[in-house]
Amino acid sequence: MKLAILSRNAKLYSTRRLVEAGQQRGHEVRILDALRCYMNITSMRPSIHYKGEDLRGFDAVIPRIGASVTFYGTAVLRQFEMMGVYPLNESVAITRSRDKLRSLQLLARKGIGLPVTGFALSPDDVQDMLKMVGGAPAVIKLLEGTQGIGVVLAETAQAAESVIEAFMGLKANILIQEFIKEAGGADIRCFVIGGKVVAR
Ligand SMILES: Nc1ncnc2c1ncn2[C@@H]1O[C@H](COP(=O)(O)OP(=O)(O)OP(=O)(O)O)[C@@H](O)[C@H]1O
Ligand SMILES: [Mg+2]
Repeated sequence: MKLAILSRNAKLYSTRRLVEAGQQRGHEVRILDALRCYMNITSMRPSIHYKGEDLRGFDAVIPRIGASVTFYGTAVLRQFEMMGVYPLNESVAITRSRDKLRSLQLLARKGIGLPVTGFALSPDDVQDMLKMVGGAPAVIKLLEGTQGIGVVLAETAQAAESVIEAFMGLKANILIQEFIKEAGGADIRCFVIGGKVVAR
């Protein structure tokens, strides 16, 4: 098969390993910088161009799109999808995963247990919402942070209120979450295939 890896840095370990594994299995693997892909959106013959070249004939695409380039990266991936190229992760799945609120709502819909989580827009609703999630200590998160950036633990109701008001003042979207002490700062990553956790 002819595979494309959307990655900004060919030297990254994860990218190199994907190339290696693909080649070992006899595939042709090409690394493309998503930010250098530009596209022609037409209904009959959608195309992607790369440094002057018309990209054709890819069977599958492996997106490695960083959080800071989600918008452009997923637009390029969508274009591959429009061209009938199979994506390892769909653009819509990536967009969903980058928004903490949206991903929690999707998990909740499937009945997965989650910490009690609140979301509000107006500072006038902060006090009651804080009460709703069980009061302090509470965790306050930016909707679009990753790797712990924008996650704050507020020990007291007063601290929580001032952090929330500060974020709201900056027009940042945040969610407020019950603090799960038993988690002890652990971070569990689960690999789900076909609706089952296959590794963690
Ligand atoms: N409700 C909570 N109770 C206790 N600890 C929490 C809670 N939420 C987050 N944490 C701690 O903070 C860390 C970072 O939070 P979280 O994983 O939600 O954000 P992130 O790593 O920035 O984003 P993402 O995992 O979506 O990339 C978690 O790994 C966990 O250790
Ligand atoms: Mg995390």
